[in-house]
Amino acid sequence: MCGIVGYVGSKPVIDILLNGLSKLEYRGYDSAGVAVNSEGKIKIYKAEGKLQNLKELLETHKAEILDTTAGIGHIRWATHGLPNTINAHPHTCNCGKLAIVHNGIIENYKELKKDLLAKGCEFKSETDTEVVAHLIANEYGKYNDLPKAVREAAKKLKGAYALCVMHQDEPNILVGTRKNAPLIVALGQGENYLASDSPAIIQYTKRVIYLDDDQFAVLTPSSVLITDIEGRQIDRKEEILPWEPVAMSKLGYKHFMLKEIHEQPDVIRNVLSGKLPDINKPIVLDEVKLTKDEIKNLKRIEIIACGTSLHAAMVAKYILEAFTNIPVDVEASSEYIYRKTVTDANTLVIGISQSGETSDTITAIRQAKSVGSHVLIITNRPDSIMAREAHSLIPVNAGIEVSVAATKSFNAQLIALYLFAMYIAEIKESFDLEKIKDLKHEMLLLPQKIETILSHKEDIMKCARAFASYKNFIYIARGINYPTALEGALKLKEISYINATGYPAGELKHGPIAMLDETMPVLAILMPGSIVYEKVLSNAEEAKARNAKMIALTSAHDAHLNDVFEYILRVPSVDEYLSPVITSVPLQLLAYYIAEFLGKDVDQPRNLAKSVTVE
Ligand code: G6P
Repeated sequence: MCGIVGYVGSKPVIDILLNGLSKLEYRGYDSAGVAVNSEGKIKIYKAEGKLQNLKELLETHKAEILDTTAGIGHIRWATHGLPNTINAHPHTCNCGKLAIVHNGIIENYKELKKDLLAKGCEFKSETDTEVVAHLIANEYGKYNDLPKAVREAAKKLKGAYALCVMHQDEPNILVGTRKNAPLIVALGQGENYLASDSPAIIQYTKRVIYLDDDQFAVLTPSSVLITDIEGRQIDRKEEILPWEPVAMSKLGYKHFMLKEIHEQPDVIRNVLSGKLPDINKPIVLDEVKLTKDEIKNLKRIEIIACGTSLHAAMVAKYILEAFTNIPVDVEASSEYIYRKTVTDANTLVIGISQSGETSDTITAIRQAKSVGSHVLIITNRPDSIMAREAHSLIPVNAGIEVSVAATKSFNAQLIALYLFAMYIAEIKESFDLEKIKDLKHEMLLLPQKIETILSHKEDIMKCARAFASYKNFIYIARGINYPTALEGALKLKEISYINATGYPAGELKHGPIAMLDETMPVLAILMPGSIVYEKVLSNAEEAKARNAKMIALTSAHDAHLNDVFEYILRVPSVDEYLSPVITSVPLQLLAYYIAEFLGKDVDQPRNLAKSVTVE
């Protein structure tokens, strides 16, 4: 989603802004712009589409912006108004002396706009952000003081925002503030930065201050002042970012998605390391701050998440219920927040989020906290808002995930959830402890099994080539692989734009079967273990009888499969409980190769954002 970079210092500002924005591109956007304070004037440059268009535009204006010491930049993911140049940020006011970039949504922008129109403000764009530009300019007219003007304007704003503002008459100052949207201050030597996310600045400095809601940062090249909304100074400690800049490189892979799929074996080893020291010893999860008694008294677990993280949550329901006997509800955060929260102190609420910044999940966990539930967050970003809100935090340490379509974070979340379920089962003695020991042993073998899949991709590529021209796809499975079917279908939709839907195999004949004919491929996940293997096979036969093109994803070597399926994608055998970790990988690859054959923008699919910071 939208991204912000701001800079004051003596380095070439445009290079820093463009470089920072390029590091945020993975979040998804549709236009870009920068504003600089150059030769005593605010100059704004904006372009629709990719950052490259803005770079080309700036190239033609090079001579105008040589002498520049401060600037702000933005990539926009359209919410209010079309993704065109006029609506792109930065925005300005009537006099053009102020420039502002904004992430989030101003909920009361219509009322504010009415007042501002009455005061003579002229609006050029359809955005909510332009309202903030006029509002701050109005306050500036009263105080002639940018930090004060931003604070006064913020008092009138409702909604979510990270703002970065500059003014022609105060050329060496940037002002930033936030509410329900991330913004960090990054500290350099004789220079300072603002950014909505750390990849934008990590190559320059790892020293940061995470602004809290309603805090204001006033940056000059040599100073940073943090205040509250009344301008009272707040002491904030700097922290060191836990990332390495190298993590943003494709390392020779064509796309970040392919690289991230291949990182999964190491990611899993990483999550397991330290937490599963020995299969004969209990799982170590010091991150979980619940006491043993609190764990024994848990009456319910709720898991809230969005997108791929929601699918990890759905797998976790099977595991947690089987291992711990605690009933588990799973819900999309965006639904959870708009009904009564009946959660209580005996309910553990787990929020799962790759980014830790997804707006709906943040709201959901805040609601759960407010009614006294313990909130456990499983995230890939220990520096995120959600991590900061958590009572317990299990960081999954998958390394930064750049591709919009989540892959390695899914399996990292799953491993964290398996460990957590085993941890509770061992405390409650609610599951066969010998079986847990076997599963621990099997978990240690998962990286190797994924490596086997990754080194035999030919069948997946062949299948992708054969099916790339289809317009629709159905994925079916039962039990613990039903969420994997949903995840496989989501991956295909996200990056190839093929209409793909996951169904519980048993539901096929309650409606979807009506769509089946030779134009509708059906991919069935058949993992031996419990009774569902036979059931999914029967459902697949029913689909085959309707002329659907059939693909199997299985570890079975059942000769009968050849009668039903045209393509068989084989995976190593694995305990059914752990099988989603294995079955998810060929599905990621299938989606990847189909999108690749279709020439799609794999890492930055249209309309999607990596971090959804608006509701
Ligand atoms: C966006 C991303 C998805 C992701 C979802 C939830 O829609 O495109 O890949 O699964 O958000 O994100 P989170 O960071 O909370 O896991």
